[in-house]
Amino acid sequence: MLKSARKKPCSCLGILASGSGSNMGAIAAAISNRELDAQIMVVIYNNPEAMVRERAAKLGIPTVLINHRDYSSREDLDRAIIQTLAKYQVELVIMAGWMRVVTQVLIEAFGDRILNIHPSLLPSFRGTHAIQQALDYGVKIAGCTVHIVSLEVDSGKILEQAAVAVLENDTATSLQQRIQVQEHIIYPKAIASFIRHIDPNI
Ligand code: GRF
Repeated sequence: MLKSARKKPCSCLGILASGSGSNMGAIAAAISNRELDAQIMVVIYNNPEAMVRERAAKLGIPTVLINHRDYSSREDLDRAIIQTLAKYQVELVIMAGWMRVVTQVLIEAFGDRILNIHPSLLPSFRGTHAIQQALDYGVKIAGCTVHIVSLEVDSGKILEQAAVAVLENDTATSLQQRIQVQEHIIYPKAIASFIRHIDPNI
């Protein structure tokens, strides 16, 4: 079959986001600049106030609210997410500021095809408030990591990292802004190379 006629495995993305959606925006921009050969099928958000909804809607991307408060367990939340991802034919799940811990249910459904970005140089500073953790520790180099999601939080295989120097007067906000600049570069790049790795002929 001709390469161009073949459906690219893993290029149908489903984004899970809880916040402002700047990473979602960077991924969408990389797709429209043809740096990333993929398509965002749906953005799922769990917080009705999340800015990501508006950002995605402006780009014409379908959005679905799945509010974790409506589910009695993390597993039930994941089942609802899986149903929506299936409805939109998602092949690769992209967690972009998704503030919920995933369960075995989601991992069994997608295997290694769930990626996350975390604002630290893993394995340092896992979990919440990673940037504040780094400042409190007094590290001189911070950064961000794209990794495959596993059951243990912020612990799966590392795909891409970028380092950011910590400046003398940095606050969590100022450091986060510089880390996010790097996130917006490495996340689309990591997704592109992940998709190529799944099918090296792409
Ligand atoms: C990012 O900084 C990411 O590292 C963390 O959550 C933040 C999401 O930001 N997991 P945004 O919603 O993509 O702007």
